[in-house]
Amino acid sequence: MIVGIDGPSGTGKSSTSKAVAAKLGLRYLDTGAQYRAITWWMLHHGIDIKDPAAIAAAAGRAEIVSGTDPSAPTITVDGTDVAAPIRTQEVTSAVSAVSAVPEVRARITELQRSIAKEAVPGIVVEGRDIGTTVLPDADLKVFLTASEEARAARRSGELKGKDAAGLKATQEALARRDAADSTRKTSPLAKAGDAVEVDTTELTLEQVIECVVTLVEEKQ
Ligand code: C5P
Repeated sequence: MIVGIDGPSGTGKSSTSKAVAAKLGLRYLDTGAQYRAITWWMLHHGIDIKDPAAIAAAAGRAEIVSGTDPSAPTITVDGTDVAAPIRTQEVTSAVSAVSAVPEVRARITELQRSIAKEAVPGIVVEGRDIGTTVLPDADLKVFLTASEEARAARRSGELKGKDAAGLKATQEALARRDAADSTRKTSPLAKAGDAVEVDTTELTLEQVIECVVTLVEEKQ
C-alpha cells in the first residue's frame, strides 16, 4: 500500500501522514525533511544558494538517511542528526531555491523511490510532487488544501515563541514559499489528475486523519 499525500505548507500534511501511517501500521516518509536536510548541508558547507550551478555540482555529496517509523521519524546527513537544525528560519528561507535545482530533485527523488519500494507493508509519503512525479503509481493520492489564513494560523501555532514575526509575516513567508514551489520548472507543487482533494480549512486534524484512513481502507 503506497499512499502519497501532497499539498502546500500548513495544510496538516505531516501530522495527518504520520497519524495515518501509525494507525494503519505503515511506514512514513517526510520528503520535505529531505529537501531541508540537503539545504542544511549546502548552507553548512558554504555553498552559495543563489548559485544553481554550485548547488547542482554539490547535489550528490550529502548522504541523507531517513528513518521511516511514524512514531519517531529521523533524518541524518553524513551521520549527523539534523532533525532540529532543518527547522530553522535560515533553512526554511533557503529550501525553495535549493529544491528547485533539477540535480537536487533527481537525487532526492531516486532516494524516495528506493525507500518506498523497500517499505513493508507499505508507506505514507508526504510532499509536493509525490502523486505527480515521485510515485505516479501510488495506490492512493491525496491532495490537502486549506485557506491561506488557516494555513498561516496553524504554522504560527507550531512556531511558538516566535512572536516577533507574527501572523502576517508568517503568512507572507508561506505565500512566497508556496509560490516558488508551485512555479518552479521541475516537478512543481501540483495536484495529480487522479488525486482526491481534501479541503481541511473547516476540519479538525482528527477529521482529516479519519477521512484519509477511510480513503486508504477503501483501496485495501
Ligand atoms: O514540507 P516542508 O515545508 O518541510 O517542505 C520544505 C520544502 O521542501 C518545500 O517548501 C519545498 O521547497 C521542498 N519540497 C519539495 N518537494 C517535496 C517536498 C518538499 O520541493 N516533495
